[in-house]
Amino acid sequence: MNQDQLVQNTVHFVKKTLLEAEGGHDWFHVERVYNTAKLILKNERADVLVVQLSALLHDISDPKFHDGDETLGPKMTQEFLRGQNTSEDTIDHVVKIIQHMSFKNSLDKNQGAFTSKEMEIVQDADRLDAIGAIGIARAFNYGGFKNRALYDPGMPPNPNMTKEEYKTSNAPTINHFYEKLLLLKDGMHTETGKRIAQERHQFMLEYLEQFYKEWNGRE
Ligand code: ADP
Ligand code: NI
Repeated sequence: MNQDQLVQNTVHFVKKTLLEAEGGHDWFHVERVYNTAKLILKNERADVLVVQLSALLHDISDPKFHDGDETLGPKMTQEFLRGQNTSEDTIDHVVKIIQHMSFKNSLDKNQGAFTSKEMEIVQDADRLDAIGAIGIARAFNYGGFKNRALYDPGMPPNPNMTKEEYKTSNAPTINHFYEKLLLLKDGMHTETGKRIAQERHQFMLEYLEQFYKEWNGRE
């Protein structure tokens, strides 16, 4: 099978899987990550197919919605790609990227357990979708889904939360900016990723300034 056909089949598979999923991630998030990964690829030397497949498959199973089972996404990926007669080298690489890419893993100290140029590209693209205008929209959307307050001056952010605290925290959405979103810029790997992150980061800072101005009824 040629690469274009394989990518098309993967798009179809991911769309179908995400339609049946419980929400949280949608196809449009995946499409943005896929497009951003292709943009970053223009300035990098990397295996294009591995980047494309990893970007498309990186969120097919979110452990948040599967009793924390982090093995399901990699398993589904491997099964799907085997059915497409993809080379074992490509499958191994894509599965490794998906295993190591979730933000949960990347908060871990053992993040360095696996890395590759291809993984860096997809991770940059995924992180870029969590910041800037889209990132802000996604954060408040998530907060709404969890019934969280927008902001509470009596609940200051805690950037040093442990992973357990982070999972169970019911903090207002503005805290998420300080606990995660404003930290992502410094985690970028590629030059293109760093450049785009800089602009989106700046936009979030301006957004927060405006937010507090309005919150406090200042002009
Ligand atoms: P990813 O797509 O990078 O795997 P996650 O699954 O961690 O991202 O989160 C999906 C989206 O929900 C992201 O935009 C993230 O910023 C947002 N989100 C996750 N946790 C919170 C939270 N506690 N408060 C607000 N937004 C959140
Ligand atoms: Ni994602």
